[in-house]
Amino acid sequence: MKAVLFDLDGVITDTAKFHFLAWRDLGAELGIEVDEAFNEELKGVSRIDSLERILAQGGVADKYSSAEKDELCVKKNAHYLELIKEMTPDDILPGIIPLLEELKAAGIKMIVTSASKNAPEILDLLQVRPYFDGIVDPATVKAGKPAPDIFLEGAKLAGADPTDCVGVEDAASGVEAIKAAGIVAVAVGDEQVLSLADRVLPSTAYLSLTVLQEAWANSKK
Ligand code: BG6
Ligand code: MG
Repeated sequence: MKAVLFDLDGVITDTAKFHFLAWRDLGAELGIEVDEAFNEELKGVSRIDSLERILAQGGVADKYSSAEKDELCVKKNAHYLELIKEMTPDDILPGIIPLLEELKAAGIKMIVTSASKNAPEILDLLQVRPYFDGIVDPATVKAGKPAPDIFLEGAKLAGADPTDCVGVEDAASGVEAIKAAGIVAVAVGDEQVLSLADRVLPSTAYLSLTVLQEAWANSKK
């Protein structure tokens, strides 16, 4: 294992809950219910693709112009930014700092492969940006998760073959993207939702260099 490709929202910090709140409120304004079950389908998915899924869910995908959709995305993001502005290093999920320290000591490259355009700012709020060797800019990636592009780009940025990488995700779309890239997937969360992953852990507290290396080594058997 030469590199670890990290999702951000729901892996490094629990911003997944803030994305949910912001979409739920926007949905309510549009008369479309966004409940927790439907939200699972939004996790990992880009801002505009999430909005498209919500509008489709409400059966109103054709009712908004692309300018109106852009405005709705701006509104959602403004609410989201309001929700995350007080974030501090205390909001880093359990086990993440020890893992980043272990990976650094082992000389393993670390790359952020998040669909979020807010990722650099969040990494700064959490004060973890110096750990990472690179952040893939999702704006430069052709197709969002569940397409493999962002993880293939992450491997490239790490200077590693995809087969020498492990991807860490909390979303079904993210796990699908990792697997489509031919990368070993370690997921955090519900085993049923994340069934495509090579290994599923109940929470980030279970992540460690050993667990990631084992998952990688098992894939070579
Ligand atoms: C992903 C989140 O990491 O980033 C999604 O799981 C979110 O919920 C996506 O929609 C895009 O994020 P942002 O910050 O660019 O709106
Ligand atoms: Mg995520």
